[in-house]
Amino acid sequence: MVRQASKSNQKSVRFVLICAGLLGFALLANFFWASSSHLSISSNWAPRYSRSPNLYIPPKNPISHKRPKDGSDRLLLSATFQDLVGPNLEWERMVAAPVPRLDGAAIQINNLFYVFAGYGTIDYVHSHVDIYNFTDNTWGGRFDMPKEMAHSHLGMVTDGRYVYVVSGQYGPQCRGPTARTFVLDTYSKHWQGDFPPLPIPRYAPATQLWRGRLHVMGGSQENRFTPGLEHWSIAVKNGKAIEKEWRTEIPIPRGGPHRACIVVDDRLFVIGGQEGDFMAKPGSPIFKCSRRNEVVFANVYMLDDEMKWKVLPPIPKPDSHIEFAWVVVNNSIVIVGGTTEKHPITKKMVLVGEVFQFNLDKLKWSVIGKLPFRVKTTLVGFWNGWLYFTSGQRDKGPDDPAPKKVIAEMWRTKLKFND
Ligand SMILES: *[C@@H]1O[C@H](CO)[C@@H](O)[C@H](O)[C@H]1NC(C)=O
Ligand SMILES: *[C@@H]1O[C@H](CO)[C@@H](O)[C@H](O)[C@H]1NC(C)=O
Repeated sequence: MVRQASKSNQKSVRFVLICAGLLGFALLANFFWASSSHLSISSNWAPRYSRSPNLYIPPKNPISHKRPKDGSDRLLLSATFQDLVGPNLEWERMVAAPVPRLDGAAIQINNLFYVFAGYGTIDYVHSHVDIYNFTDNTWGGRFDMPKEMAHSHLGMVTDGRYVYVVSGQYGPQCRGPTARTFVLDTYSKHWQGDFPPLPIPRYAPATQLWRGRLHVMGGSQENRFTPGLEHWSIAVKNGKAIEKEWRTEIPIPRGGPHRACIVVDDRLFVIGGQEGDFMAKPGSPIFKCSRRNEVVFANVYMLDDEMKWKVLPPIPKPDSHIEFAWVVVNNSIVIVGGTTEKHPITKKMVLVGEVFQFNLDKLKWSVIGKLPFRVKTTLVGFWNGWLYFTSGQRDKGPDDPAPKKVIAEMWRTKLKFND
C-alpha cells in the first residue's frame, strides 16, 4: 500500500510572537499514554509553523489573535505550532513488527535489523529480540534476552558483530534502573553477562564505540529524572571488556536521556535529548509513572581528538527520544521524529513529524521531509537507498501532536538529499 504522507495543512495564520512567560496559562495534565484530556484549542486550526526550516528560534511562543469561543480572554495557540515546513515524502507501508514497542532499541548489521525490548503497554515490557530482513522485507528470528537485562531505556551499540547493551530500566511503568551490561554475539545469538557493570545505573545513556572503547555518558540518574553528566569508557575487543574497570572521561556539557549518539569519521556526536523525565509516583507499589517537567534541547556536541566538547549548530528544533532514530548516509546524519518542547499552553507532550539531515561536510541542518505521522522513540534503519522506521509512539492525528498509540508499523521511503 502506497500513500502520500501527512496531508499538509497549510492554512496561513498570523502569529504574534511574544516572549512572555506563559506559565499562568498552564492546564496541568498528567498524560503519558493515550490521554483523553480535552484540548483547549480549536482542532480545525492547525497551521504549519511557517519559518525557515534551517533556523532554530529558541522558545518564543507564537500566539494567534484568536480568542476562544467561550468568550474568555485566553489566547489560543495552535496544537501544531512546532511543526516545520518540509517536503512530503512517499512512504510505503511494510509488514508490521510482531509486537508494538515504545522505548525499545535497535541495531542494524548489514541487511538485518535487530529490534530489542521496549514497552508493549505501560504495564508490560518485552524481553526478546525480533529481526527484520531488509533483503526480503520479512520479520523473523525471534530470540529471548537474558532475564536480568533491562527492558527499556537501554544504551546500545554494535561493532558489526557484537552488540553491547548497557544499563537501562528494569521492568514496566517507571521502575528503577540496573547497571548490568550484556553483550550479544549476533553470529551465535549467545549472550554474555559477565561484562563489568556501569559504575552507576543510568536511564537511556548516550552510548557509542569510539577508538576501541565503549563510551557511555549522560542519561538520567537513578531517580529517572535528574540528568547525569558523567561519562565513562572501557576498552573492548571482540565482545569482551579488556579492562577491569570503567574509566572516568570528560563529563558531557548537558546531561539527560534520549539523545542520538553517533560516531562518524572518528568524531563523536551527541544530538538533542532532554533534562527530566517521568518518575515513579512516591510510594506507588507498581512504580506508577507520573509526569514531571521536561526540558527538551536542540544542542549538538562533538568530541574529536582534542577530547574537548565542541558546540555545533543546533538541530532545527529541540528533539528528544531519538536514541535509535538515526542513520548515517553519505556523511550526513539523518534523524527521524522524536519529541520537542511541550505545548506552552496545554502542556501536552509534542511529537516530531520531520526527517532531519545534518550534512557533516557543511555542518548544516535541513528538514528533508515529513513522516506519515509524528512519532517518538522510533527505530530507524537504512538499506539499499531506503530509509525505514518502525515502532515507537505516534500522535493522535494530523492536528494533534500529543502521543497516543504505541505502534508496530514499519514504513519506508526512498531517501534523497538535495545537498
Ligand atoms: C534474508 O533474506 C534473504 C533473501 O530472502 C536470504 O537470502 C537471507 O538468508 C535472509 N537472512 C536471514 C538471516 O534470514
Ligand atoms: C549517496 O551517494 C551515492 C553515490 O554518490 C548516491 O548514489 C546516493 O543517491 C546518495 N544518497 C542520498 C540519500 O542522496
